[in-house]
Amino acid sequence: MSRLAGKRAFVTGAGGAIGRATCLSFANEGAAVAVVDINLDAARETVRLVTDAGGTAVAIEADVRDEAQVAAAVGSAVEALGGLDTLFNNAGIMPHQDKSFLDADLDLWKFITEVNLHGTVLCSKHVVPHIEAAGGGAVVNMSSFLAVIGCTYPQDAYAASKGAISSLTTSMAVQLGARGIRVNGLAPGPIATEHVEKFFPDPEARRIRLARVPLGRFGTPQDAAELACFLASDAASWITGQVVVLDGGISINYI
Ligand SMILES: NC(=O)c1ccc[n+]([C@@H]2O[C@H](COP(=O)([O-])OP(=O)(O)OC[C@H]3O[C@@H](n4cnc5c(N)ncnc54)[C@H](O)[C@@H]3O)[C@@H](O)[C@H]2O)c1
Repeated sequence: MSRLAGKRAFVTGAGGAIGRATCLSFANEGAAVAVVDINLDAARETVRLVTDAGGTAVAIEADVRDEAQVAAAVGSAVEALGGLDTLFNNAGIMPHQDKSFLDADLDLWKFITEVNLHGTVLCSKHVVPHIEAAGGGAVVNMSSFLAVIGCTYPQDAYAASKGAISSLTTSMAVQLGARGIRVNGLAPGPIATEHVEKFFPDPEARRIRLARVPLGRFGTPQDAAELACFLASDAASWITGQVVVLDGGISINYI
């Protein structure tokens, strides 16, 4: 099955855990992928993995906070792939210093907001006209389950940035529906990446969190990649404006 045959995707944060898994899945489903990251070495490694698996990908360096870099990256992607019809706004940061609003450091809030929210805005601004020129397509935005539920150990700037991405997703979907562009989001719970594991410094911290997961495990990058593939594909052709939670049931569990 090639659910994304002939598609051309612009994926940000594509050198990271979820971005890389998604690029591999997109390519495996037939898409050519622009692998965009602030970390060019990481983007190149994703491209190597995609091409080793027989797929088509190109590495592009860009900081999604910087409009000139985003515009240049989109131009490079269009030139390399011949157009764009799919956008995965995945780049995001979750600094450990981000805790309660009661201790808010506004410089940190601005940094997180610039990467997570403004990066999503800028990439959408510059990629969507190309999707429209291609005759339509799909945008997938990366939110988080922390946009849906509160957390005893807060990450308030992160949660607020992801809540804004969820709201933006619905507004974009309404604006772009008539142009043949669907806009959806993913809201993952904890995905067991190296970065997230640092939040569970000892076995007890891990046990407490796992006890709240009805499905009994943290997510994997592939769990998120599978949903991104589905939302990007024509199999989701009547779904727009939805932010789908994938969290093993954490958000429906009251202990
Ligand atoms: N891992 C989780 O548990 C989890 C849960 C919910 C949502 N998410 C979201 O999924 C996305 C990917 O997370 P991940 O776990 O793969 O993280 P990751 O740190 O492995 O990957 C993030 C990637 O984004 C890139 N990046 C950071 N700042 C950038 C910038 N300014 N411009 C361009 N690229 C930039 C990094 O270089 C990195 O390659 C993020 O938006 C994150 O908030 C992750």
